Amino acid sequence: MKAKEKEIVNDIELEMENIKEEKAEVKIMDLPGVGAATAEKLEAAGYDSVLSVAVSTIGGLVDASGVGENVARKMIQAARDNMDMGFESGTDVFNRRQKIEKISFGCSNLDNLLGGGFETGAITECFGEFGSGKTQIAHALAVGCQVQDPTAVAVFIDTENTFRPDRIIDFAKGAGIDPDKALKNVKVARAYNSDHQMLLAEKVGDLVKKGLNVKVVIVDSLTAHFRAEFIGRGTLAVRQQKLNKHMHELLRVADMNNVLVYVTNQVMSKPDVFFGDPTAAIGGHIVAHASTFRIYLRKGKKGSRVAKLIDSPNLPDGEAMFYLETDSIKDF
Ligand SMILES: Nc1ncnc2c1ncn2[C@@H]1O[C@H](COP(=O)(O)OP(=O)(O)O)[C@@H](O)[C@H]1O
Ligand SMILES: [Mg+2]
Repeated sequence: MKAKEKEIVNDIELEMENIKEEKAEVKIMDLPGVGAATAEKLEAAGYDSVLSVAVSTIGGLVDASGVGENVARKMIQAARDNMDMGFESGTDVFNRRQKIEKISFGCSNLDNLLGGGFETGAITECFGEFGSGKTQIAHALAVGCQVQDPTAVAVFIDTENTFRPDRIIDFAKGAGIDPDKALKNVKVARAYNSDHQMLLAEKVGDLVKKGLNVKVVIVDSLTAHFRAEFIGRGTLAVRQQKLNKHMHELLRVADMNNVLVYVTNQVMSKPDVFFGDPTAAIGGHIVAHASTFRIYLRKGKKGSRVAKLIDSPNLPDGEAMFYLETDSIKDF
């Protein structure tokens, strides 16, 4: 290729890069018919990105922002035109999945249940009654990731004041790593309400940008604030919208940074269920759909705990039994 041609090709490539970048930077405000007030309403209703508009229904946008149907249709069309919503090949997906890591804390029954450990790049939801071991697993994961990779950092978003440094020290000693270092590599933030909790999830990206090797992000408990703040049937829709937004942010965190997001969830008793387990996870379908792995924890015989895998995309449903001990989580 002649020098001149090369220059032209370079120019074209540069221009295409620019176009790509411009496309990526389109904001909700840039869509036709969206002024500051509409953008604010959309934001409040959980439409925080052009993608969220692109995949919305006309009715959804009308309800959320009060614009007319025609405007909503144009907004969605413009959002879609600006998105790269195409297909990728199975090979691309396969290659992306090669980067997935399995995080373990040395309990082989649980590892086997999960196909080798807790997956990065996904959300694992653990739900179960009080005392079933959800918080213990959170601490064990915060240490386990560091056993596998000494530079690993765990982020602990603590909503119920259940983070205990002693448990990190105990598990670190049990795993034979330096307890002081293990503690330093857990970044804890207490979330005082649901908005604060959502904000903290958005800040995880900043830690990664600062150069921290974040491997695990824990939200314990995912639903407690939402449950406490939105009481009564009338507030259910708002609660679910906010929870939906939070789950999508967590999915983004998991996906963009290849981290394991581990969230805990309470169960509410459903006294009208006579057969099977009369409990259901809070947050309903919204939490369930965003979570790739769902584990139901309960107390088993002889002080053991039983984990049951529910609705996994690629693993057989099954159960694992283990004990919660002071320095580890051990096979039953
Ligand atoms: N220091 C400890 N040594 C041994 N077991 C512990 C210790 N701390 C907590 N546990 C066990 O963990 C249980 C509490 O589990 P936890 O994860 O807090 O439940 P939840 O599902 O409510 O988060 C306790 O009932 C006990 O069996
Ligand atoms: Mg707990």
